[in-house]
Amino acid sequence: MQLIDGKATAAKIREEIAQEVKKIKSAGGKTPHLAAILVGHDGGSETYVANKVKACEQVGFESTLIRFENDVTEEELLKSVEKLNNDPDIDGFIVQLPLPKHISEDKVTEAIDYRKDVDGFHPVNVGRMSLGLPGFLSATPSGIVELLRRYEIETRGKHCVILGRSNIVGKPAATLMMRKGYPGDCTVTVCHSRTPNIKEICLQADIIIAALGVPEFLKGDMVKEGAVVIDVGTTRVPSDKTKSGFKLTGDVAFDEVAPKCSYITPVPGGVGPMTIASLLKNTLLAGKKEVYSIEK
Ligand code: GUN
Repeated sequence: MQLIDGKATAAKIREEIAQEVKKIKSAGGKTPHLAAILVGHDGGSETYVANKVKACEQVGFESTLIRFENDVTEEELLKSVEKLNNDPDIDGFIVQLPLPKHISEDKVTEAIDYRKDVDGFHPVNVGRMSLGLPGFLSATPSGIVELLRRYEIETRGKHCVILGRSNIVGKPAATLMMRKGYPGDCTVTVCHSRTPNIKEICLQADIIIAALGVPEFLKGDMVKEGAVVIDVGTTRVPSDKTKSGFKLTGDVAFDEVAPKCSYITPVPGGVGPMTIASLLKNTLLAGKKEVYSIEK
């Protein structure tokens, strides 16, 4: 069994990006600038956004954090999105999800200028990815694919089982894994809460991407010998063993599953850091206007 080290891989990608930023700056180019909108004080979202801002600093980007309280109106939030859309200094921005129930995530996502949508959540970017056209790839699935590429894990002709059908992981991961070429060319099965025979299906998988948000859902007896397991779960489970009072727990029962795998990602230190690395990559592309040009 080989552990896939997302933390080290993400650090390497950050270093590559930092080198490029240095070159851009010394040639007199514009420093890439990422903005993040954070609503409320959810512990998980606070941590993710703080890590995103810290990563921007590490690679030499500029970053701006815009905070709203939970009672922000949809209208106010949409105004803030519009302001960022029209700000020529902002190359890309994200609105951290989830949002409070009184705000439509779909409406907010659609309001983002797709040319600045470095999360790759806007329908234009999702559609372009589905068609195999250039655009901003959804950060988590693109981080997963990058791990497979850098570890030279064979995907062509393999059966990839995805657990979960969310818009931000399951669905785009399915799209990328079935794409023509490498990494891709998989036969993909997507399982979800209404799939009756998940265990049988998982036992046929060469690659399993677990993204349901159910701690330790994937057990040892659901995985065939030699499988590759990618754990996207990051549930904060209360714990009296840590200073923070919680333990980040994946969707995979790691101790049971790991001995059967050829490769497996840990939690934390697997997919999580790669999501941020992908976001930085998208922001660099947005700054260089290599995917879309913006004429204002
Ligand atoms: N919530 C969970 N993951 C993500 C992500 O990748 N981007 C944003 N904006 N919100 C999230």
